[in-house]
Amino acid sequence: MKKVKVRLGNNSYHIHIGSGMLEQTGQRLKENGFTGSLVIITNPIVKGLYGDTLEQNLPKEGFRVTILQVPDGEEQKSLEVAGRLYNELTDSFAERTTPILALGGGVIGDLAGFVAATYLRGVPLIQLPTTLLAQVDSSIGGKVAVDHGQLKNRIGAFYQPRLVIADTATLKTLDTKTLSDGLAEVIKYAVIQDKGLLIYIEDNLDKIRALDDRALEEIVFRSAKIKTEIVEKDEKDLGLRAILNYGHTVGHAIESASDFTVEHGTAVAIGMLAAAKISNRMGILDKNELLRLNRLIQRAGLPTKMPDLKVEEIIQAITHDKKVLRGKVRFILPKSLGSVFITDEVSLSLVRQILVDWNEET
Ligand code: NAD
Ligand code: GLY
Repeated sequence: MKKVKVRLGNNSYHIHIGSGMLEQTGQRLKENGFTGSLVIITNPIVKGLYGDTLEQNLPKEGFRVTILQVPDGEEQKSLEVAGRLYNELTDSFAERTTPILALGGGVIGDLAGFVAATYLRGVPLIQLPTTLLAQVDSSIGGKVAVDHGQLKNRIGAFYQPRLVIADTATLKTLDTKTLSDGLAEVIKYAVIQDKGLLIYIEDNLDKIRALDDRALEEIVFRSAKIKTEIVEKDEKDLGLRAILNYGHTVGHAIESASDFTVEHGTAVAIGMLAAAKISNRMGILDKNELLRLNRLIQRAGLPTKMPDLKVEEIIQAITHDKKVLRGKVRFILPKSLGSVFITDEVSLSLVRQILVDWNEET
């Protein structure tokens, strides 16, 4: 088992990482001062897989458990579903001190987190992430939100959890696509900050994809540490935290231009490569490093070919999504693998050229 402390003054908390951690949830909650009633928010898929573990462990430790379920899917991240959950919390007599446990992937974490941040002006939030993306990214750092129509994560708050328990054994029931989506974020951390993690992924990718316990624990731990360090320096996303959006400028544009039919992991993988190509064309990132990243993304089961979309639609989505000033757009670019910088100096014409040339290169 590994532990990371997120140091945010009065809002500090621990992330517990390891195989079988869900079975210790009650104990961990008691160590953190919780007793009595609690509410779990989850979906039927995750409840079917891990509900029993919690329903056995928590009452043994003296907790009274209410489980609230929402259907699976991104469309559940809405004010309407949050409103339904407020009613169900009221019916369950939830009080200001009643913790909400978010059991699931990033959708459940963001939705239950938003509900915890707003119900009775805030009840304690415990994150129990069960996808790789949720364990390395969305459960850490306090961004909670619902979507507003097509506008993703538009209504939200910064609301830190009181505890994160990442049971890496839960990753064993993920399908390969969802695992690869999470791997895209792990590669993101390696490129922005940690060449050592990049080498670790390169050396252990087969083990990671075969769901080896130690390899999973290692990548979740190292990624969680990187995210923690960045969030500690810039909790409210006023500067440095933007580097976590590496790969997301073009990535979000691809998701949006495809009407969200292109998956997030795919879009981020292409977005990371796009930023690397831009950096290479600007004479910054070495060509060998670009090829190395391309290989790693492929080996992680992620695509490197551009989805079948019109270049102009992607460009339009970039200009809608981000501030564009005098034909220039903000990008997070790799200087080398393991180090990035934020720049407002990338011209839209260079981005367009790279997208046009895409399938002829690397
Ligand atoms: P998800 O929550 O939709 O989970 C993916 C699928 O896996 C779902 O069908 C889910 O039911 C299933 N699932 C979850 N755990 C499982 C398990 N252990 N075994 C089998 N199936 C399981 O998707 P996600 O990729 O985890 O999260 C995406 C969401 O996260 C998006 O809404 C995105 O906006 C959000 N996000 C938030 C932040 C943040 O900082 N708050 C960061 C990144 C992404
Ligand atoms: N996932 C981006 C952030 O937490 O800032």
